[in-house]
Order: sequence, then C-alpha cells, then structure tokens
Amino acid sequence: MDRYTSPERLADQYSDTQKLRIRQETHQRYGESPVSFLEWATDLMNIRPGMTVVDVGSGRGIYHPLFMERGARVIAIDRSPGMAQEIKNTCLSILGDAQAIPLPDAICDRAVCNHVLYHVPDQRLAMRELRRIVRPGGRVVIATNGAQNNARMYEIARLAASDLGSPDTLTHSSPFKLEDVERVREIFPDVRVEIFHSAFRFPEAEPALRYWRSMRDDPELETAMRPRIDEIIRAEGVFRVPQVAGCFVADT
Ligand SMILES: C[S@@+](CC[C@H](N)C(=O)[O-])C[C@H]1O[C@@H](n2cnc3c(N)ncnc32)[C@H](O)[C@@H]1O
Repeated sequence: MDRYTSPERLADQYSDTQKLRIRQETHQRYGESPVSFLEWATDLMNIRPGMTVVDVGSGRGIYHPLFMERGARVIAIDRSPGMAQEIKNTCLSILGDAQAIPLPDAICDRAVCNHVLYHVPDQRLAMRELRRIVRPGGRVVIATNGAQNNARMYEIARLAASDLGSPDTLTHSSPFKLEDVERVREIFPDVRVEIFHSAFRFPEAEPALRYWRSMRDDPELETAMRPRIDEIIRAEGVFRVPQVAGCFVADT
C-alpha cells in the first residue's frame, strides 16, 4: 500500500479539514491564474438549474457554493466522518466509499470526483460507480494533477534531502494522474482531457513551507528547504512553482 492509499496516511490527512484547508487557502491566495481551478472545473460540468450533482470525495465541499449558484442540488459522499460532518448543514452529506457509492443507479445529472482517485485503491471500480449513478445523457467530471504538478517544490525537497545526506525518498509519483487517460478510457471510451496550467507565486518562503508541511511534516527537511527557497526569492523576486492539473470529462 503506497503513501496515497494507506489508511494511516488518509486519516492523517483527512480526519478533519485542517490540512486540506491550508492547501486550498494557499491556492486561493498564491495561485497566479485569474480564474480559479474551482470555477474552471465547475464550468466544465455545464450545470443547469434543477440538476442533481453528486460530489464523490467531497472533502470540505469547497465547490458546493459554485454548484448551488448554478441552481444544483448537491449530494456529498466522503469516507471521512470529519469531512462529512463539516458539511452536513449545507447539503445532503453521506458517509461512503467511492468504490461502493451508497446511492441508486442513475440518481443524478452530474457526478464529480475531484482530486480523490489517487487515494482510491481500485480506481476502475470507483469510475464504474461514478458512471452507474449518473443518468444517461449526464456527465462525469474527474479532476486530478499532472505528473509535473509542483515538480519544482519536490525538486527543492530533493536537494534539501541531499544537503542532509538523506536518501532520495521524495519522488512523488501519483497513482492517478492526467497522463493515465487510458485507464479512464476503459470505463469512459469517449472521455476528453482538459488541462489547467497555473502556478503558485510565493513572495516569501513561509507560505510555501506551510503548504509543504500540510503534506509532509518533517521539520529537519523543512529547515534545509528554507534557505534554498530564500535564495530563489532573492534571485528571482518570487518562488514560482508551476502547477498542472485538469479534468477528465465524460458524457454518459
Ligand atoms: C484532496 S481531498 C479532495 C476534496 C474535494 N474533492 C476537493 O476537491 O476539495 C480528497 C478527499 O477524498 C476523500 N476520500 C479519499 N478516499 C476516498 C474514498 N475511497 N471514498 C470516498 N472519499 C474518499 C478524503 O476523505 C478527502 O476528503
């Protein structure tokens, strides 16, 4: 079991909303794109008034205001009780696993599963479940990151680890990336891939390290990363970290 799917790691990351909140606030504050990923991905869903949207792996429901603004009714599914509890007053929030969604067939017009499938051991099963709950003529949208997402930050971490004489254990190969379109095509033959390029622009090291810390709490490594980031900011004025994320869009 890898870092992405181990139950201990998932509990550490998602038993409450705190770490996810830090990362999402970092995107909002330091992302350079004038259009947020949230708005961009929501537009791909083509939601119309009266539609039912099921959000699988909903987290803290950060997309829900956008779905509701477009007139949707939202049902949220998450396997973390802490996440499900957080949003229970704003939508129908159900505790459940993406691999066995506790809803009947064809219950909704849109299903969305954003930045979740890399945590799911059987991604094909989860995708079949997403297809099952959407009515014919509906749409499934699945967001994930590209292989090069945040690569510059990982490079700094690798250099910092080598400064400390530590072995390189920092490769961050995600088990579900935008490059994995063939796996998605097995379930959704006509899927298309939409890519969103953006970047963080950090004017100082601390917010970059706060983001990093939310994923990997290693004070010694962080201490070695800080001067490397400071050096980049001195030379370039800002620590720019390119991001690559996107969505698989499939009509049912
Ligand atoms: C990175 S967060 C994304 C949250 C939300 N989709 C967003 O984009 O803000 C991943 C979420 O997936 C949930 N999750 C992980 N594995 C899951 C599974 N097998 N079934 C349902 N939810 C899962 C976690 O509890 C967490 O809330």
